[in-house]
Amino acid sequence: LAVTWSNTWLRVGIICGSGLGDSLSKTFNCNSTTSRENAKNDFGYPSSDLYHGCIDGIDIVLLARHGTGHVFSPTGVNYRANIEALRLAECTHILASTACGSLTEAIGRGQLVVPDSFIDRTISRKGTFYDGTSAKYSGVCHMPMEPAFDPRTSEILLQAAKKLGYNIRKGGTVITIEGPRFSSKAESNALRLWGGHLVNMTICPEVFLAKEAGLLYAAVAMATDYDCWRECEENVHAADVLVVFKQNVHKITNVLLEAVKLIGCGDWEQDIFKLKNLIESSNVTVKK
Ligand code: ADE
Repeated sequence: LAVTWSNTWLRVGIICGSGLGDSLSKTFNCNSTTSRENAKNDFGYPSSDLYHGCIDGIDIVLLARHGTGHVFSPTGVNYRANIEALRLAECTHILASTACGSLTEAIGRGQLVVPDSFIDRTISRKGTFYDGTSAKYSGVCHMPMEPAFDPRTSEILLQAAKKLGYNIRKGGTVITIEGPRFSSKAESNALRLWGGHLVNMTICPEVFLAKEAGLLYAAVAMATDYDCWRECEENVHAADVLVVFKQNVHKITNVLLEAVKLIGCGDWEQDIFKLKNLIESSNVTVKK
C-alpha cells in the first residue's frame, strides 16, 4: 500500500539528460503539461515543456535538458531559465541525470555515480542569477560550494540504487567542459591529473544555479565511455555514448522513481530552511 505522508508540499523536479528526455514523461505517467511559453520566466524559455506527474503522492516535474528531440547543445541550454522554471513550479528538490565520460580505471561503462564535487571548465555560460536580470535575485551573492551537491538528496539516490541492487559509486568529481567537442587526449589526461573522476558538458552551471535558487540538487551520473585517455579503449564517439546510455537507461529511471518515493518519506523543512538562510547570509549587498 502506498503511504502518502503529510509532505504534500514536497515537489521533485527531474532534469533528464541526453537519452532520457523524450521517454520519461510516459514512464512516469505524467498527465499534464506546462508549455514552454507558459513556463517562460525572467531568464527566458526553459528547454522543454514541463511535464507534471505524481509518484506515491509526491508531485514531480520533468524537464528535458536538451529540449524535445535534443535540439539544444550544452552551451545552448538556458540553464537559468530551466532552474527558475522548476523553482516557479514550486519544486523543493532537483534530481538530474547526466551521461559522462570516465576518467578513471575505477569507473567502467554503465557504472552509476553520485558525484559530490565539480570542476567548472565552461567558458560561455551564465553562471549566476545575481546579475541584475531579475528583481527576485538582487544584490551580490557569493554562495559557498562545499558541499556542491545536496548531501542528503545525494544519499537518497545512493539508497535508491542500493535498494534496487545496482552497483553505484558514492562520490566523485565531475569536470564540466564547454563542448560541444570532446576533449583532446592531452586535455583528457590533464583532467585526470586534476583529480576528475568523470567528464561531462552540463552539470555546471546547473548544480550551482540550483543552489542559488534554494533547491536541493543531486545528480545521478552514468559513465558511458572512457573519453580518449585509455590506450586499450575506443575513443569516445557521440553515437556510442547514446548506445551505452540506452542500454543502461532503465537503471536511471528506476533510481529516480525510487528516490522520489524516499524523498517523500523524509522531513525536509530544516534542509530547505538552512539553504534559504545560507543564500541570504551569502548576499553581501547592504539592504536599503
Ligand atoms: N558525455 C559523455 N561522455 C563524455 C565525454 N567523454 N566528455 C564529455 N562529455 C561526455
